Amino acid sequence: MRWFTTLTAVAVWALSVPATCLPRGDADLKDLNSKLSSKARIYLPGSSGFADVSARWSELEMPASNISVVPAIEKDVVETIKFASKYNIPFLAVNGVHGSITTLGRMDWGVSIYVGEMSGVKIAPDGKTATILGGTMSKVVTDTLWAAGKQTVTGTCECVSYLGPALGGGHGWLQGHHGLVADQFVSMNVVLADGTLKTIGPSSDLWWAMKGAGHNFGVVTSVTVKIYPLVHQNWAIETLMFTGDKVKEVYQAANDNLLKGGTQDVNVINWSYWFNLPQVDPTGPVIAFYIIQEGVGAVDSKYTKPFRDIGPFSVEPAAGTYRDLAGWVGINLDAPPCAKAGLANPRFPIYLEKYNATAQQQIYNLFAKATNASSPFAGSLFMFEGYSMQGVKAVDAASAAYAYRGDNLLIAPLLQYQPAGPVRDAQAKQLGNEIRELLRKGSGRTDLHSYVNYAYGDETAKSWYGSEAWRQTKLKALKTKYDPKGRFSFYAPVA
Ligand SMILES: Cc1cc2nc3c(=O)[nH]c(=O)nc-3n(C[C@H](O)[C@H](O)[C@H](O)COP(=O)(O)OP(=O)(O)OC[C@H]3O[C@@H](n4cnc5c(N)ncnc54)[C@H](O)[C@@H]3O)c2cc1C
Ligand SMILES: *[C@@H]1O[C@H](CO)[C@@H](O)[C@H](O)[C@H]1NC(C)=O
Ligand SMILES: *[C@@H]1O[C@H](CO)[C@@H](O)[C@H](O)[C@H]1NC(C)=O
Ligand SMILES: *[C@@H]1O[C@H](CO)[C@@H](O)[C@H](O)[C@H]1NC(C)=O
Ligand SMILES: *[C@@H]1O[C@H](CO)[C@@H](O)[C@H](O)[C@H]1NC(C)=O
Repeated sequence: MRWFTTLTAVAVWALSVPATCLPRGDADLKDLNSKLSSKARIYLPGSSGFADVSARWSELEMPASNISVVPAIEKDVVETIKFASKYNIPFLAVNGVHGSITTLGRMDWGVSIYVGEMSGVKIAPDGKTATILGGTMSKVVTDTLWAAGKQTVTGTCECVSYLGPALGGGHGWLQGHHGLVADQFVSMNVVLADGTLKTIGPSSDLWWAMKGAGHNFGVVTSVTVKIYPLVHQNWAIETLMFTGDKVKEVYQAANDNLLKGGTQDVNVINWSYWFNLPQVDPTGPVIAFYIIQEGVGAVDSKYTKPFRDIGPFSVEPAAGTYRDLAGWVGINLDAPPCAKAGLANPRFPIYLEKYNATAQQQIYNLFAKATNASSPFAGSLFMFEGYSMQGVKAVDAASAAYAYRGDNLLIAPLLQYQPAGPVRDAQAKQLGNEIRELLRKGSGRTDLHSYVNYAYGDETAKSWYGSEAWRQTKLKALKTKYDPKGRFSFYAPVA
């Protein structure tokens, strides 16, 4: 859905909505305004403030609102949700704006609650935890802790919020040591669907749901998380670039030398990207294989040699600190994935235990053909993320709504294109699903394991939250208890 850009559009739209569902105009907005703190703001369409908090990373199926509230403090969130609840107005928390699941497009009017002004990190006097406000960006968390000689697990991308990834589990560089981002939660303040503010911890039944399906249950205004001493400042990377004819060999080597059946060394991470680099190979995407190692000045040759032996067309080692990682893999603040460039950016994720070299060859062929230079998808990026897993597997799988601790790889084609209407969108959807199906078939699995935070939106709740009956039953029961009217239902709804 497109944003309403003019007040006229809003007025026309209003005619089709039953009057009983609507606030009685200005008086009620004034009423909300009077309950907000002096620093909170309300923006309406047509204002530059509204435009600023409405721009998003992916322009496919964007959520539409026609009131934007910018809370300054927790109580502003409480008042806003009470207001929206009272008048049955749809609402949605907006944070780092990188959410791109197409279910967001089901929101076609209502209140967006932009939480980004509630930003800050406070380290506890004992140095074991930190309290992070609901709208803090990942980079702010990393930088603040770094300055104090501490660190914790955050998402890797600098422009994504801390909580957006965390509520769906949250993958990050340090997960091999400490588990997912959500595994670090110690307590949190959350505003529920009816506007009640709750402080919850492990003794709450809601705790389980917040760690993997959290977007469905409340707006988190702050979270206290475990932090750790900064042991290794230094990290190194080796980027090996291959042409597509090496695809089978590269992923066979990744299985044999890196993944090793999910026992990849805790200090090693491997990512790879496929993208078009016509000056090197005009016939198909190149493979950039990144091997990243913690606590060293150069990646150990025992990891890199098997890949060097395959014959990369370039090998580029680099050394630096933890804070260079995002830049090395192109997801720092200045990199294209942080830009709001007016593009559609759907991903089609699948979790796997290991690579199947035959399937890698199949998807390479399909991806290469469909993203050729003259196709609308030429700017696409295929992402293969192989984080270390020890910390994730050390946590009891039943303890959180996050369902996929058994998998080792997060794989997703990102089909990037200029929005051009429903036909192009349908082409992308078909291609993305075709690629994903080849990967699923290659894994021999019947069910699709899909990371909720990368999801396209056409997967099922079983794919996002695990198909085990107990998971589905538990999740639905909690939803009925805490959000019976389904107010938190735009981001990957559990039911
Ligand atoms: C370039 C890029 C890099 C990424 N890197 C990683 C990564 O390293 N690890 C990883 O796990 N994921 C990663 N992701 C996926 C990421 O987890 C999701 O895109 C996530 O939705 C982004 O959150 P956001 O706050 O930026 O986006 P938003 O669109 O603002 O938020 C997404 C949804 O999260 C919910 N939400 C956000 N804040 C709150 C809150 N305070 N309380 C309650 N609900 C809230 C809302 O439902 C909202 O619709 C990446 C995505 C991109 C595009
Ligand atoms: C928002 O849209 C709804 C539905 O179209 C309409 O009833 C309401 O008056 C609008 N509110 C504002 C502030 O524009
Ligand atoms: C890549 O990561 C996967 C997943 O953790 C791991 O199994 C594999 O050994 C890694 N490969 C390399 C080369 O590090
Ligand atoms: C290029 O891509 C387009 C669109 O994805 C596709 O229809 C076409 O067949 C491709 N061309 C070649 C030569 O593969
Ligand atoms: C790998 O994928 C191919 C193609 O789907 C499949 O035929 C084969 O059985 C898979 N191999 C393994 C070991 O699962």
